[in-house]
Amino acid sequence: MSTEENSWSFTEDGTLYSQKFEDTYFMEGCGLEESREIFVKGNRIAERLEQENQLVIGETGFGTGLNFLAAWDTWRQSSQTCRLIFFTCELYPLEQELQRQALEPYGEVAELAKILLERLPKAKQGFHLLDFEEGKVQLLLMFGDVKETFSECSLRADAWFLDGFAPSGNPEMWNDDVFRLLANHSREGTTLATFTAAGFVRRGLMQAGFAMEKVPGFAGKRHRLNGKFEPGTRRFAKLELPWYVHKQQVPQLKPLIIGAGIAGTSLAREFSKKGIASQILDLSSQVAQGASGNRRGMIMPLFTQHGNHQEMLTVCGAEYSLRLLQDLGIESEPQVYELDDNCENSQLYANAEQRHGSAYVHREEKFPFAKQALYMQQSAVINPVEVCEAFLRDSQAQLIQADVVDIQREGEVWQVELADGQSLSTDTLIIAAGTETRALIEKIYGESILKLSSLRGQVAHIKGEELSAFTDLPNMYGEKYLLRDGEDFLLGATYQEDDEDTSLRANDFAELAKALKDLLPDLEGELEFTEGRTAFRCKSKDYLPVVGPMPDLEYFQQTYGGNKRTHAASRLPEAEYMPGLFVASGFGSRGFTTAPLCARMLVEEIVHGHSFFPNDFRRHLHPAKFTIRELRRS
Ligand SMILES: Cc1cc2nc3c(=O)[nH]c(=O)nc-3n(C[C@H](O)[C@H](O)[C@H](O)COP(=O)(O)OP(=O)(O)OC[C@H]3O[C@@H](n4cnc5c(N)ncnc54)[C@H](O)[C@@H]3O)c2cc1C
Ligand SMILES: C[S@@+](CC[C@H](N)C(=O)[O-])C[C@H]1O[C@@H](n2cnc3c(N)ncnc32)[C@H](O)[C@@H]1O
Repeated sequence: MSTEENSWSFTEDGTLYSQKFEDTYFMEGCGLEESREIFVKGNRIAERLEQENQLVIGETGFGTGLNFLAAWDTWRQSSQTCRLIFFTCELYPLEQELQRQALEPYGEVAELAKILLERLPKAKQGFHLLDFEEGKVQLLLMFGDVKETFSECSLRADAWFLDGFAPSGNPEMWNDDVFRLLANHSREGTTLATFTAAGFVRRGLMQAGFAMEKVPGFAGKRHRLNGKFEPGTRRFAKLELPWYVHKQQVPQLKPLIIGAGIAGTSLAREFSKKGIASQILDLSSQVAQGASGNRRGMIMPLFTQHGNHQEMLTVCGAEYSLRLLQDLGIESEPQVYELDDNCENSQLYANAEQRHGSAYVHREEKFPFAKQALYMQQSAVINPVEVCEAFLRDSQAQLIQADVVDIQREGEVWQVELADGQSLSTDTLIIAAGTETRALIEKIYGESILKLSSLRGQVAHIKGEELSAFTDLPNMYGEKYLLRDGEDFLLGATYQEDDEDTSLRANDFAELAKALKDLLPDLEGELEFTEGRTAFRCKSKDYLPVVGPMPDLEYFQQTYGGNKRTHAASRLPEAEYMPGLFVASGFGSRGFTTAPLCARMLVEEIVHGHSFFPNDFRRHLHPAKFTIRELRRS
């Protein structure tokens, strides 16, 4: 539900009030004390931060973020040795200004609130992983209904903050389905705290496996509840389908990454954030010499008629990429406008605006270069080479010029054979080789299991003076795109399937020139381009990237093929993967929007054994997706 469907006000003492729920977000005048007393103390967070290496807190209802700030503040007061992960859901996200006002009364956490507000996503949909304190404090913010978001989440909580509005007015947050989900996402001994003492909440949580106790309420209230998960003989819920279960594999040797494009450099950077130094192998001694090497590229979401996985991946990916640019001080030009000259997309644009809110995306009718255009708040134009260079620098990974010609499994390691006869070995190998990923995977499997193909694209470089008649040209994207490149411009791009010609072709330049004439009809004279670049996008059959562990095909066929396909998933054993072999490719035309976020997902999965991506997303990107679909269908 969008923010327009809800409305808010403030009580006299400045506490946020929801008109829809007819309830305040906290007890009037003492929100921070309440949060500390009920949730932080109720779960013994301060003590546990000193005892554990990692503490996972789950919350129902992010609201203003004050509970998160109280937990983070407790971490700040601790010895700071424990990694704090806070995951939470929110169906009615607040606009940033409202959230700022709502947090204003809590001066004690003002510094943290400022940092939080600066990092919060502009999108009000999707899942967003925010890092604080150099990644030692992480917030996973999932926009959506509690049931929908938690059902797809693969994290288990060590402590719960149950904080919907009062149960009588907010039944969607307090019911048996939600209590079951809380149990599914708990471990033995997971604690729970809430402000309410409602009888049906206590009984429902007990039914789900929590031992509950009534304790004195906060600020004069009679009671509230604390609990502890004691599953007894209950079986722990499985949070993922058996064929997608992949266990943590902390690298013991330096990970090897094949490919120094946006995928490879993002992976190296993410490994370094975990304190793991990696090596990148590339045909070139410099980064971004393949698809990632154009002079300019766009970061922007792709909106679809009804919103699908591609839309959500690009919405969340754009947020993640733009945050990284900001963190690393990389310059970008704001805003790309999507053009629609024939008004064919009016409905799509209206749907996107309805889903995401008009501040984030809206249709502009009076746009000088098309009948209508789409304004996208979270879009930017970057210099891709600069971005990859900055990621490599930040990762401190070693870039080795090498042509990988073969990959073999030798005992416990992967042996990577190079064209010059040398070889390198590792226990963690990630193939991020763009269009060459397909050939390298074929060397290991003897067949192509990832359904990757190549799409040629040519761009033209245009000198600024050639377009000097037009002042202040915006960055525009339609059938073709025109991007500012300092004083000059980049005009792109052509699309040709399975065409391996690396030369610059006159035909392609003519196609681009015609597109520019259509865009700028007042442009005088004949256009002739001679400067440009050709590169190859790697796309998968379903237009989504392939990122994750590579399946052990023989095991998959024996375990999930044949008559096993009719068995209920819960009766089948968990998957086996090729140990330490991963892939990150198929980013199509959106690598700068999606590869950094996907790299984060993969490195979290390798190092910590959880991905942060909702399960259904992870499955849509999974390298085993095509294999599993075929086995379950055949
Ligand atoms: C014309 C064009 C315009 C585009 N515009 C945009 C845009 O505006 N926005 C956007 O987000 N995306 C855009 N894209 C898509 C984007 O460029 C790609 O999605 C992205 O660059 C893919 O990155 P990658 O790291 O997967 O692959 P690449 O950048 O291709 O990197 C793969 C690397 O692997 C190396 N390699 C391959 N084989 C071997 C081997 N055997 N041994 C060692 N190294 C090897 C290569 O040298 C290469 O450096 C565009 C693509 C094209 C072609
Ligand atoms: C009492 S407030 C939470 C306050 C919050 N923990 C904080 O620190 O500001 C309850 C929150 O639950 C959210 N909420 C209500 N129903 C929901 C649902 N079905 N799914 C997800 N969130 C919901 C509300 O929008 C509100 O932000």
